[in-house]
Amino acid sequence: MTSSNPQAQIHFQIIEARPEDVKRAFQDLKKDMNPEFVHVFLDKMQRYSTKPDRALFLTSHQGSCIAFATVINHAPAPKDSDDTLVQLLQKYACGTGLMVLPEYRHRGVAVKLVEQWDIWALKNNIPGIWVVTHQMSDWYQKHFNYTLQGRTMRKGVEKTSLTKTYRMGK
Ligand SMILES: CC(C)(COP(=O)(O)OP(=O)(O)OC[C@H]1O[C@@H](n2cnc3c(N)ncnc32)[C@H](O)[C@@H]1OP(=O)(O)O)[C@@H](O)C(=O)NCCC(=O)NCCS
Repeated sequence: MTSSNPQAQIHFQIIEARPEDVKRAFQDLKKDMNPEFVHVFLDKMQRYSTKPDRALFLTSHQGSCIAFATVINHAPAPKDSDDTLVQLLQKYACGTGLMVLPEYRHRGVAVKLVEQWDIWALKNNIPGIWVVTHQMSDWYQKHFNYTLQGRTMRKGVEKTSLTKTYRMGK
């Protein structure tokens, strides 16, 4: 896979992780994380690589892991959601994590990871996807056609809920 930006092309591969892929990827990805929370991240990676209702995607470049994304079928709706939104989100998968190491950003890596959410959801017959984000609302709308659904407060920070509905083929 190659980035779409000709200014800064890098070659990278994305895999859907198996449990045995986690340890090495964790060593590469944890370097920019708050040491207090790395164990939470490792636990999440292990769960997402093991359980059938979710997936962990890992991006590698020259033998190192440089990015990850996670997706789950059914996550609890944000607490301020109205009933209509709660019902909608119950039917959709949720993108629950996305991070590219700082030195590899702006090269199209995240775009390819977000596409994996779509591929995974469609493979699992899930008709849409949702995300909650603090700062990337415009990005999801501009690059991936997500639709703004509402705002929610989480731990004193305002976050935005967005959805994307698939046109399911017959
Ligand atoms: C958000 C994030 C995943 C984007 O990763 P990335 O690999 O740099 O994104 P891409 O290169 O695929 O982005 C494609 C487009 O988004 C733009 N973009 C990338 N990062 C951006 C940012 N932080 N803010 C706004 N736009 C951004 C790129 O310039 C590019 O735009 P263009 O195609 O018009 O040039 C990365 O900045 C990151 O890991 N941030 C910290 C964690 C985070 O915020 N995760 C998202 C939580 S919802």
